[in-house]
Amino acid sequence: MIIRSVIEGVGSYLPENIVTNAELSKRVDTSDEWITERTGIKQRHIAPKGQNTSDLAIAASKVALEAAGMDGRDIDMVIVATTTPDNTFPATAAKVQAALLKPGIPAFDVQAVCSGFVYSLAVANNFIKVGQVGTALVIGAETLSRFLDWTDRTSCVLFGDGAGAVVLKAGKGEGTSADRGILSTHLHSDGRYFDILQADGGVSSTQTSGLLRMKGKEVFRHAVVNLAETAREAIEANGVEFKDVDWLVPHQANLRILDSTSEKLGLSKDKVIVTVDKHANTSAASIPLALHQGISDGRIKKGQLLLMETMGGGFTWGSALVRL
Ligand code: ACO
Repeated sequence: MIIRSVIEGVGSYLPENIVTNAELSKRVDTSDEWITERTGIKQRHIAPKGQNTSDLAIAASKVALEAAGMDGRDIDMVIVATTTPDNTFPATAAKVQAALLKPGIPAFDVQAVCSGFVYSLAVANNFIKVGQVGTALVIGAETLSRFLDWTDRTSCVLFGDGAGAVVLKAGKGEGTSADRGILSTHLHSDGRYFDILQADGGVSSTQTSGLLRMKGKEVFRHAVVNLAETAREAIEANGVEFKDVDWLVPHQANLRILDSTSEKLGLSKDKVIVTVDKHANTSAASIPLALHQGISDGRIKKGQLLLMETMGGGFTWGSALVRL
């Protein structure tokens, strides 16, 4: 018998305000046609002033806790994956803990940009596997709209705000791919590509938060290769095949990236959960948002095998194979 981190509840939250491509084309020189053709994005949710990353994180967590049949007193640890914290410090996780959870439990943020949720899942999984905690709340939450350059049409059309959360609980397994829970996680980074996708500022360098800058073509090229490689390593590590995967639940950056990756892996498009059309790229929030969408509409079911994969600034990338 081995310890497995089982997903007991999933939740998400999206700000009410929706901005369509048509509305965006009134602000910058772009069009619905261009954005749809190049990215698959049709709309994004944008948080109003005063609604911060922690508010989104708390709202998503409430849904996840309820789905797990738990309340905040049942949680032993909280991790928030975010690139857009409320404050430079303390961690956004501290606000989630104060609002929902019990005082005294560890609460911290993980910064791995779009890979933040998979990184956080890996951290929580390892805490659970060594027996240090029995339950963990893992959240991806972002208000990316706050650090976009709204005059740069090459980047501002791509992103949105939102949050997703999962509740993990220690369970027992046989050590095979038939177990429920996180079967494996795989994390990578390559800091040589720091400049290709970055905020052009920071506390130490400019004393500002900076704005998002991206060399889109280069990100695209690396994303397709890295995502396929990390998906393969998750499959191989568990002695399964791609045909055994029920759902690919990928980071949602661009429909063309999703299509190219699934094609490279030989996975049919109808096995891919796509939310990028409605949410745009919500960075660390995109995988738990997609997971919750798939569960809510009845496609993703308990016992199914899910492959999560992601790539983001750093570069960072990684995957997780999970049986729900
Ligand atoms: N509307 C209209 N025209 C635009 C827009 C826009 N929003 N943005 C760029 N263009 C123009 C360019 O100026 C260029 O015009 P030019 O030929 O006259 O110079 C033309 O469209 C083509 O631009 P490209 O950058 O070559 O377009 P490309 O096909 O590469 O698409 C895109 C750009 C969508 C950013 C693509 O490179 C991409 O998706 N890259 C991946 C990056 C990504 O998804 N990042 C998300 C963050 S990272 C992550 O989450 C992994």
